[in-house]
Amino acid sequence: MRSSTTTRTRTRTRSRLRLAGALAAVLVAAGVATGPVAQADERRGKEPTLADLAQRHGRYFGSATDNPELTDEPYKALLGSEFDQITPGNSMKWYATEPRQGVFDFSKGDEIVELARANHQKVRGHTLVWHSQLPGWLTSREWTASELRAVLKKHIQTVVRHYRGKIYAWDVVNEAFNEDGTYRETIFYRTLGPGYIADALRWAHQADPRAKLYLNDYNVEAIGPKSDAYHRLAKELKAQGVPLHGFGLQAHLALQYGYPATLEDNLRRFARLGLDTALTEVDVRMPLPATEEKLAQQADWYREMTEACLAVRRCVGITLWDYTDRYSWIPAVFPGEGAALPWDEDLRPKPAYFALREALK
Ligand code: G3I
Repeated sequence: MRSSTTTRTRTRTRSRLRLAGALAAVLVAAGVATGPVAQADERRGKEPTLADLAQRHGRYFGSATDNPELTDEPYKALLGSEFDQITPGNSMKWYATEPRQGVFDFSKGDEIVELARANHQKVRGHTLVWHSQLPGWLTSREWTASELRAVLKKHIQTVVRHYRGKIYAWDVVNEAFNEDGTYRETIFYRTLGPGYIADALRWAHQADPRAKLYLNDYNVEAIGPKSDAYHRLAKELKAQGVPLHGFGLQAHLALQYGYPATLEDNLRRFARLGLDTALTEVDVRMPLPATEEKLAQQADWYREMTEACLAVRRCVGITLWDYTDRYSWIPAVFPGEGAALPWDEDLRPKPAYFALREALK
């Protein structure tokens, strides 16, 4: 339960944030580019970044990005300065890396890795085995188990070998379970059975023994049937000596579905299995329009998630699923929802951004 002091501090902070936000909004609306807003920007420039603050706790603070966005210079500048980790949102997925069988294309992924190198950022590789965004050649025919095993092994090993030494952590298998904790009936599960997960981890480990290997999913932030399934599986895999190093909790939250109050306990139980954890695709969407109240609640959730991660030693970092509403995946997939990220469509920081800073301080 929250202490009343914490609640009071939050309420005070929230009203301060609202005031500052309202002042900034008025100035921006009035077209005032100098004065307090510019001074605040200047101060921010000299202030530690989210990455600096996270590093003081031995964590990284990252963002997803995607190749088409990289022509947007102001966007790219902030991506390079505020974060010490990036994840390619699409360019390392199967459809991008092996568009035709046996023909690999690393151009888009390489662009992201090169950008990260230039900005001294870690890269999370996303993702090797997933049921979505697969190339047509893979999904449009039936495979025998031995054929698919060979195809999967070649895909994983070619991609991981190409990026060997350049990827901090791979999401090896993404979204393997249903909400009730049963295995998702993907092409891999149907054809190969549940053993495809251990195989994928072993193959990835052979190709880059130093990369951290993760299982990653959404709706696993709270303790429940789906996260229980991962806990069981991770325990088994560890007992069998399979190279599994981390569990990624995507953390695509939505204000209308409530905050996952057991997040911290959940992170802790995975740490007890000897695993790292990470919040890998964070955003907090809301039914539009975004009101001051919703943005304040969103800020609280960003703060709480960050505090939960900082409270568990093996929660190694946080990645936003892009950092600005300009490039969020939400509006296209959930019409009428959005405003999910800490920077708005004009790259202005929202209350959530200031809440993140506070949590990291
Ligand atoms: O590349 C085509 C382009 O040629 C075409 O003009 C355009 C028109 O729609 O579509 C482009 O493809 C889009 C692709 O992103 C690249 O921009 C797809 O339509 C679109 O569906 C796809 O969405 C991605 C989504 O995964 C697919 O499931 C999002 O960008 C990406 O952020 C999202 O990320 C996933 C994580 O990988 C796993 N966890 C959930 C998360 C959100 O869905």
